[in-house]
Amino acid sequence: METKNLLFICGFMSAGKTTHGKKLAKNIGYHFIDLDHYTENKFDKSITELFQELGEDEFRQVETASLNECINDNRKTVIALGGGTPCFNNNLELLKKSGKLIYLKMDAEALYKRVFGLKANRPLLATQEEKDMLPYIEDLLGKRAPYYEQSDLTVYHNNLHEDEFKETVLNFLKN
Ligand code: S3P
Repeated sequence: METKNLLFICGFMSAGKTTHGKKLAKNIGYHFIDLDHYTENKFDKSITELFQELGEDEFRQVETASLNECINDNRKTVIALGGGTPCFNNNLELLKKSGKLIYLKMDAEALYKRVFGLKANRPLLATQEEKDMLPYIEDLLGKRAPYYEQSDLTVYHNNLHEDEFKETVLNFLKN
């Protein structure tokens, strides 16, 4: 498989992986898959329901199975990962050998400001009290950054324009 067929977008919850991934795919004529939506469609359940029914460990197995299925579809595709995807089950190695990994990087503070309206659909955040949220994000981001930072391209932003993202990725793909 030509390694640039698959572009994976990783990053913390609410970093804009789906929004930017979808726009990028449209702009460059790739298909788009959101890994969480793929899993939700497969089981006809929300991520929150799957987390509740399976627990996190089993969810990670399900997530890895979905990732493998998406990778086996050999089309030009942008795949927006879940926030935890690169950090479990050797998924990072699989991602690195199957395509190009792009990290949408944001500061904990900026993530914290965005996360509130979005936390209901994120089981890891839904139960956090407001006062604990920033330390929780800082801690989890600190644990996950070593995985995210192994991406082929890091796009650091606190408010990214879709054209800026597209240009950055296109420049990267040219080289
Ligand atoms: C998770 C992130 C979520 C989803 C699940 C677990 C995580 O995806 O996969 O709630 O561990 O960070 P988003 O990053 O799209 O919210």
